[in-house]
Amino acid sequence: MRRNMPRAPLEGGVPSDRAVFVSNRYRDSRMTRNIAKAACCLAVVAVACIVNASTPATKAIAFPDGYRQWVHVKSGLIDDPAHPAYASFGGVHHIYANQAAMQGYRDATFPDGSVLVYDLLELRKQADGTTDQGPRRHVDVMVKDAKRFAATGGWGYEEFFPRDPRAATLTPKAQAGCAACHTAHAPRDHVFSDFRD
Ligand code: HEC
Repeated sequence: MRRNMPRAPLEGGVPSDRAVFVSNRYRDSRMTRNIAKAACCLAVVAVACIVNASTPATKAIAFPDGYRQWVHVKSGLIDDPAHPAYASFGGVHHIYANQAAMQGYRDATFPDGSVLVYDLLELRKQADGTTDQGPRRHVDVMVKDAKRFAATGGWGYEEFFPRDPRAATLTPKAQAGCAACHTAHAPRDHVFSDFRD
């Protein structure tokens, strides 16, 4: 297509009527191509937006830096190997909430921007009979954004492992799995824990 383009008249030459016509056509066809290119870019952006809008749960959730300085909601133990969740959640867990999420613990409606952290550590039995916490197993995170995570009850779910602490690991299917269980607490805005004072 490029090869068949009429060539622009040489610079500095006095263009004949035909040359002016050719020159205008050249300019017009170049303009048409540029418009077509721009339209094409817009179409690509539009498609990307539609894809993003329809798969909100796949958007990465950032690691909650500084969560150990947040409010400690409660702790819990899953220390019986007979417990169905022992393989994935065995150990001691601590739940933390950022300031926005504290409102949700009071009135069961967590505002957008709420972040909850489930910090899971191994249990270590000591020779003297005490039990201490061992290395971290994983950090589970819930982020409230009613629009962005509409498909999973307004909460985004993510899981981080110590081997690469800032790398989000959950597939959309796994995120749906988190949401499916948390839906059991839909009347409490999908949050299980209570704030222990
Ligand atoms: C089988 C049910 C179940 C599944 C699946 C599940 N959770 Fe939970 N989650 C719980 C329960 C129960 C608690 C409350 C624990 C407590 O109170 O000590 C909880 C607590 C949490 C909390 C603290 C806030 C709250 O609701 O109390 C976060 C954050 C969390 N889970 C994230 C996740 C993520 C991320 C996934 C998926 C990888 C996930 N959960 C999968 C049952 C589940």
